[in-house]
Formats: sequence, C-alpha cells, structure tokens
Amino acid sequence: MNVHAAALGKAQRFDEQTTAFAGDVLDGLAQHPKRLAPKYFYDAAGSELFEQITLLPEYYPTRTELGILRDRGREISVIVPKGAALVEFGAGATTKVRLLLNECALSAYIPVDISGDFLKGQAEALRRDFPGLDVYPVTADFTAPFALPEAIAAMPKVGFFPGSTLGNFEPHEACAFLRSARDILGQGALMVIGVDLEKDERVLYEAYNDAAGVTARFNLNVLHRINRELGGNFDLSAFTHRAIYNRERHRIEMHLISRKAQSVRVLARSFSFRAGESIHTECSYKYSLDRFTALARGSGWKPLKSWTDAAGMFSVHALVASD
Ligand code: AVI
Repeated sequence: MNVHAAALGKAQRFDEQTTAFAGDVLDGLAQHPKRLAPKYFYDAAGSELFEQITLLPEYYPTRTELGILRDRGREISVIVPKGAALVEFGAGATTKVRLLLNECALSAYIPVDISGDFLKGQAEALRRDFPGLDVYPVTADFTAPFALPEAIAAMPKVGFFPGSTLGNFEPHEACAFLRSARDILGQGALMVIGVDLEKDERVLYEAYNDAAGVTARFNLNVLHRINRELGGNFDLSAFTHRAIYNRERHRIEMHLISRKAQSVRVLARSFSFRAGESIHTECSYKYSLDRFTALARGSGWKPLKSWTDAAGMFSVHALVASD
C-alpha cells in the first residue's frame, strides 16, 4: 500500500476526484518548495471568487479579451468555416463564447469541462438563447485525450481556449496541451486562443494583488478546501497571500506564506512550516507575440492571425492545425 492509500485508509471513503485531490495535496506539501496545483482553486467558492476577480478594476485580462473578441468578431467570423463545430476547452462564464456564436455561423457547440453539473446549466441557457445550435457538453479533463461526439464528425472543427488559461500551464504542459488539442480537433482545424502578454511589471503586480483582497481570498480558499474536503486543519489566518512577477521566467507566481513556524495536519500526515515558508500555488505565464507563435509552431499549429488591444495588453490568436 502506498503512503497515500495508507493515509486515505484512515480517513473517510472518497470519490475518484477527491482521491486525486488528496494524492496531489499530500505529494505537493511534501515537496521542497511546497506546491499545490492551481486547478484546485476552482471549487464552487473558488469559481465564484474567480468571477469576482474578472470584474476587478486591476484585473485587465477578462475585459481586454472581451473587447478584442467584440471588436474583431467580424474578422474572426471570416476565418471560421460556416457550419463549424466550436469546441471550448474548459467552461466558465458564457460571455466570450456568446460573442463568437453571435458573429459566426456555427452549427454546434461542445463545451468540455470536468464539472458536468456546471456544463448542464450552461448548455441549457445556450440552447434557449441559440435555438438553431446543437449543444453537446462533454464531461472530461480537457488536458487529457477525450473523444468528440459522433454527431459532429463531419463538421469543420474550431477550438476555443480563451482567458489565457494556457498561461497557468508550465511551458512543457502548454506544448502538450496544444498538441493534444490538435490531435483531438484533427488536421485543418482552427483554434482561437487568448494569451496574456508581458507588460509593465506594476500593472501585472496590481492585477494579482488587488486592493480589495479578492485574489488573496481566492488563493487562501484552496486551504479552506483542503480543510473541508480532506479534513485538514489549516489556520487560514496563519497564511498570507503573495504574488510576485518573476522576470526571468516571464510569470506571475502566487504563493501562500506561512506567518509563523507551525505544523498542519492533512489526512493522517503532518507537515511543518518555517516562518516565511511558501506554498507555491500558481504560475501565470505572460508571453510576447513572438514567444507565443514559436510555442504554437512547435506544437503542431500554424499561426494565421493575431489581434491585440490598442495598448498591447492581451492577444487573441487564430491558429490552423498543420500537417
Ligand atoms: C484563470 N487564469 C488565467 C487566471 C490568471 O490570471 O492566471 C487565474 C488567476 N489567478 C489569480 N488571478 C487570476
């Protein structure tokens, strides 16, 4: 029996997702430096906090990308084949996809997300608002291979990956995701992807250290989730949010810093923290246009067109799956 199974055996019975969460948390807290994967931010409370982040005055990515999609919708619709199926990797608020659905003559929409319940609600609203559109939600981890619905087999495919979620992947993971998306969508497919750009460090710093403290609550919520789902005993007031820009690696790093020497129990394991010790919870990579197009080229995609806002804060790219 491995250490995780032993620890889990002493705790309650878990479903598959909670077992994976438990394994990753026990592994991550045993590492030096300690780390937790950013995908665990998004329980119900974390998803709600993220929606609040997207509305913050300091957090420019969401509204800037929406502006680009709104301003360039016509140009995007010229590239998107009529009757295409739009496959969205991950599904959050439907605001962005609605812009594409309004502009492009799409036949089907396939949102792909690990949270099936969330997808169902989203699909119902879109079916109501776009009566001619076939909606086929797929419950899957979109970073791993999954099958597209049979019903869209004959349709041209367009991938959609907005929000610069790609930035939360390590560069090798970003490359693996783009390759896997290419395999899933097939040769000749199009991909519309949002990518956050490098910029003045002050602007980046403020976007991840907002004055209202919403990003801090979002970051700390992962400890709350560990307490609730894995019976942990993190004292949230003993950790503080820190986000810094790592210039050499072109990324914002989010950390949770222990305010004192302490030890914390999760399942049957104990983890000790030095005062000032960090749990690294997220990287948010920022790209230059050149670095992103090089990544796309090296991952099976040919860059077709890029759009940015007037201030060059954010970019949207159209890529074609190369042979
Ligand atoms: C979802 N992702 C692109 C966000 C980002 O900007 O990296 C997550 C986030 N983390 C802190 N604020 C927002």
